[in-house]
Amino acid sequence: MKLLITGGAGFLGARLARTLLARGQLAGQTIDTLVLADQAPAPADLAHDPRVQVLTGPLLAQCDALAGAGLDGVFHLASAVSGECEADFDLGLRANLDSTRALLEALRAFGRVPRLVFSSSIAVYGSDPAHPMPAVVDDDALPVPQTSYGVQKLVCEHLVADYSRKGFIDGRNVRLMTVTVRPGRPNGAASSFFSGIIREPLAGETAICPVDPSVAHPVASPGRTVAGLIRVYEASVAECGGRGAINLPGLNMTVGGMLDALEAVAGPAARARVVFQRDERIASIVDNWVHQAAFARASRLGLTPDASFEDIIRDYIADCRAAGQADTALKGLAG
Ligand SMILES: NC(=O)c1ccc[n+]([C@@H]2O[C@H](COP(=O)([O-])OP(=O)(O)OC[C@H]3O[C@@H](n4cnc5c(N)ncnc54)[C@H](O)[C@@H]3O)[C@@H](O)[C@H]2O)c1
Repeated sequence: MKLLITGGAGFLGARLARTLLARGQLAGQTIDTLVLADQAPAPADLAHDPRVQVLTGPLLAQCDALAGAGLDGVFHLASAVSGECEADFDLGLRANLDSTRALLEALRAFGRVPRLVFSSSIAVYGSDPAHPMPAVVDDDALPVPQTSYGVQKLVCEHLVADYSRKGFIDGRNVRLMTVTVRPGRPNGAASSFFSGIIREPLAGETAICPVDPSVAHPVASPGRTVAGLIRVYEASVAECGGRGAINLPGLNMTVGGMLDALEAVAGPAARARVVFQRDERIASIVDNWVHQAAFARASRLGLTPDASFEDIIRDYIADCRAAGQADTALKGLAG
């Protein structure tokens, strides 16, 4: 089979690519070709795999070529992140909405009905005076996005469902929880600090936490998130319970609880590197986010959240070691 991952050079896209290449098959079919499309260059280990084809450039410019590519399946992950979309309205429309529409048109033009999983986000949920957000956001909660990114994700979910209804693609939508711990440097996402307050202390650096310890938010490890994307791809629409978006599993945590876990795994010195310095801009954005999520449909697919936040941190530590980055990324780890 021939698969495409858009955003295939990104945090989750590259991880998904490595997982799929290691499995060698998806939905019972051998993966012969994996196309990684991204405006950023693909990581070297992926680019060197003989099954991988790399397409580098903006997705909008690649869709004509993709129309004739003979794709059996797509994971559509390419996206500008929330902070970027707030800062640059046109960028968000182009990268998220226009690119998704062009991709769907390319798949429609080919006439082969490829399966597609779209990575939406819990950023589709928000609070409006007419529709206050429930304390626990489940699969049935009304999405009332309060950011451009959230609106773009929600519109794309509906496009994926409608192109599927028309028989052009076989699409599924999943809403990802905030994924942590993200390696590397902070990115443009307003949620970036959720990774920063773990990653930086482990690297022996100070981290600024812009919100109070009581702030609650559902999170998931990259490993569980990728497992969710694959499971939803492989499930039938009936198993998914329809084409409406599915919340992937998340661990409902507070910032204080995350730091307790950091201390349990990495010692009190690591925790002491987190400095609380309230940033009203970020705090007010986060205030409108989901505080707790439920994920009954994902559970029915056999998907489970991470067992504990300590496990999420230990997974990150194991990933750093496997990538040979312990010297820098884990400099602050006690013992
Ligand atoms: N990481 C999270 O916490 C999280 C949470 C909810 C939803 N998601 C969604 O999951 C997907 C993957 O997230 P991620 O964390 O890997 O993000 P990421 O930023 O690491 O990866 C996204 C990739 O998309 C590429 N990209 C962006 N715009 C593009 C364009 N116009 N053309 C081509 N490539 C483009 C970027 O270069 C990047 O490599 C995204 O759709 C994101 O919205 C992520």
